[in-house]
Amino acid sequence: MHLRPATKKDVDLLRHWDKQPHVAAAVSNDDWQWETDLEINYGWREQLIAEENERPVGFLQIIDPAREISQYWGSIDSGYRAIDIWIGEQSDLGKGYGTEMMNLALKRIFSDETVMAVLLDPLASNTKAHRFYNRLNFKFVGERMFDLDLCFIFKLTRSDWLNANDQD
Ligand SMILES: CC(C)(COP(=O)(O)OP(=O)(O)OC[C@H]1O[C@@H](n2cnc3c(N)ncnc32)[C@H](O)[C@@H]1OP(=O)(O)O)[C@@H](O)C(=O)NCCC(=O)NCCS
Repeated sequence: MHLRPATKKDVDLLRHWDKQPHVAAAVSNDDWQWETDLEINYGWREQLIAEENERPVGFLQIIDPAREISQYWGSIDSGYRAIDIWIGEQSDLGKGYGTEMMNLALKRIFSDETVMAVLLDPLASNTKAHRFYNRLNFKFVGERMFDLDLCFIFKLTRSDWLNANDQD
């Protein structure tokens, strides 16, 4: 598996994935404007496609919430990153791809020594994602409303990540 930047060529695929029931149910009510958004490079964001044997299987976004334009996370210190992730096709769920994507993303994120922790905001109802994040050593740190969505906040500190990966 590898992660590569998403480009305009991925718009149809991303639109197709948006319509899959497991994605639509989990990815709040944000309307991802792929057609225009993928053309813009922001220093505070990476939009990535995960490929398994050159076949796209999922999408992963990493943002710096302190610099993100809409200030979705509100007032927040520097030193954090936030992730959005989904597997595109239902038939690709439960094969370990999500775990591999997260492990690649965490390695990429923590290679920046200024990053102290990673945040996630799954819907409160998304118990499968909660289990998934717990297995990756994220800790539940509280509930929060984002627009109309009640979300659970999960956090993985650099030291928890290092301990889990025996890289101390
Ligand atoms: C959350 C999500 C990204 C996890 O991705 P995934 O590829 O299904 O996750 P994994 O396969 O790595 O792990 C999930 C399950 O598969 C199992 N699994 C892990 N590796 C496996 C493998 N190699 N073979 C078979 N099963 C495996 C895990 O034990 C886990 O089982 P469980 O859910 O019963 O506890 C995916 O479910 C998804 O896209 N959900 C919809 C969108 C979403 O909820 N995104 C998060 C919003 S914050």
